[in-house]
Amino acid sequence: MTKVAVVTGSSSGIGLETSLLLARNQFKTYATMRNLNKSTQLQEIAVKEKIPLKIIPLDVNDEASVNYAFDTILKENETIDVLVNNAGYDVFGSLEELTIDEIKGQFETNFFGVVRTTKAVIPTMRKQGGGVIINVSSIGGKVGLVPFNTPYHASKFALEGFTESLRHELAEFGVRAILIEPGGVKTNFVDNIKTAKNHNPNDSPYAKTMQKIFEAMGPIMADATHPSEVAQVILSAVNSNAPDIRYAVGKDAESILKVRSELSDNELEKWVRESFMEKKGFVRTS
Ligand SMILES: NC(=O)c1ccc[n+]([C@@H]2O[C@H](COP(=O)([O-])OP(=O)(O)OC[C@H]3O[C@@H](n4cnc5c(N)ncnc54)[C@H](OP(=O)(O)O)[C@@H]3O)[C@@H](O)[C@H]2O)c1
Repeated sequence: MTKVAVVTGSSSGIGLETSLLLARNQFKTYATMRNLNKSTQLQEIAVKEKIPLKIIPLDVNDEASVNYAFDTILKENETIDVLVNNAGYDVFGSLEELTIDEIKGQFETNFFGVVRTTKAVIPTMRKQGGGVIINVSSIGGKVGLVPFNTPYHASKFALEGFTESLRHELAEFGVRAILIEPGGVKTNFVDNIKTAKNHNPNDSPYAKTMQKIFEAMGPIMADATHPSEVAQVILSAVNSNAPDIRYAVGKDAESILKVRSELSDNELEKWVRESFMEKKGFVRTS
């Protein structure tokens, strides 16, 4: 029987590549996005390749939009076999200059967005006795790597704990939740970073250090992974009979996990800071 997959945030990057890969592998794929004006590229590829991909609107921040999307999918299908929770963004700034609303906004998308869509699929997956929920976290959900990124790290750490706990309660119904932890990925992610509205570079006590971090971002992202690699890992996890709980993706992510297991917390913190300040990146060569 044809399997049905749903992907959030399919307008670009990891979501776009994952939607295409799932459809190319004969999953009937609902590529969802909050702004259908961004669907042209994906639509053209799907038509050209004649793959089973349908684009529908879904804003993970909006309960009504989530309900409408899943109602539509369930009217057209008896099952939902795969949910890829991918939609996310990054808000950048010192905690002092970030507003509570900006921090809540980060959680609204990166955490509560996942909660909403996951709640929408659980009844179907539970009743059908199986399903896979892929949560695109980050290596930043394991280690607080990036300075001035407290909301992002907190949202991804939350997603990690949420997923680990959820796995226990869904296991008896054959439903699996799996974490994907990419390092740097070449997508629109950096261009889409929101900066704290109250940050004034001419007046902020954090301006000098923030500028250094921004400058380090370029060299660190230069070696970033292609989003199609993340999509491949997601497809393998979906198709596996015995998937891992989490998959780190990219040389940097693997290196960070290795360093994390070998160093003390204090040594790890020093390594992270030096990696940024000296623009060395996160792939340890020695
Ligand atoms: N790139 C990296 O280095 C990296 C590393 C680790 C983890 N990740 C994670 O990977 C995921 C995908 O990011 P990406 O790298 O592919 O970046 P991206 O190219 O910026 O894509 C992000 C996607 O999320 C969508 N989105 C944002 N808010 C949304 C909302 N409220 N409802 C629905 N969709 C929404 C965006 O839609 P619009 O086009 O409408 O904005 C876009 O489709 C994120 O969860 C991110 O945290 C990325």
